[in-house]
Amino acid sequence: MKAKVISRSGLLLGLAGVIVIGLVTLVYHFTYDDIERSEYQALLLALNSIIPEDSHDNDIVNDTRDLPANKELGLKKDSLIYRARNNGEIFAAAFPVTAPDGYNGPIKLLLAIDRQGRILGVRVVSHLETPGLGDRIESRRSNWVDQFRGKSIDNPSRDDWKVKKDGGVFDQFTGATITPRIVIKAIHKALMYAEAQPGVFFDE
Ligand SMILES: Cc1cc2nc3c(=O)[nH]c(=O)nc-3n(C[C@H](O)[C@H](O)[C@H](O)COP(=O)(O)O)c2cc1C
Repeated sequence: MKAKVISRSGLLLGLAGVIVIGLVTLVYHFTYDDIERSEYQALLLALNSIIPEDSHDNDIVNDTRDLPANKELGLKKDSLIYRARNNGEIFAAAFPVTAPDGYNGPIKLLLAIDRQGRILGVRVVSHLETPGLGDRIESRRSNWVDQFRGKSIDNPSRDDWKVKKDGGVFDQFTGATITPRIVIKAIHKALMYAEAQPGVFFDE
């Protein structure tokens, strides 16, 4: 009799466990879908703000090329390159760049360049920098990131790819020089990589 009660309790406990695991899995899936959807929206927004929608005739988000994990771009995981075309001709590529050594952690950027290696735009996709200090790299906090538009590896000269405080041409923030310094360094390093390996970005 006692054994029967114990085995029935065990069965109920097992069943409860299965139900809980099922519910957790379900919630995880819905949450994961939500995260994927919002990341997709953020990507779309960032892409459209650096490569205007009316400048290309293709669907950039779905015109991709694999970008394997890449030390020069600070990418620990495989990612994608998004290409902008007109009449089938690729004229720009947007790709992720991570500055691993931000003040509070990695800073993830989206960088778009044309075939000549000129920057079409940069957007900060995620970061952990301090509100009121390093977070002015975000385009909704300031237009700091817009100063890279039109720049390329030799414009300004390689030695000038620094904040003004270090003798370069880019603005720093009052009381926060570290964040801009490392963003500038990551962008310049990415431009050097793109110059050395244009095929990675522009081959079919
Ligand atoms: C709590 C705290 C948070 C800070 N956050 C940042 C930050 O996010 N980005 C940054 O560049 N500097 C930040 N700073 C300031 C840096 O420590 C440093 O003083 C500043 O970047 C100037 O660096 P420099 O003397 O090398 O030019 C922070 C300082 C404190 C005390």
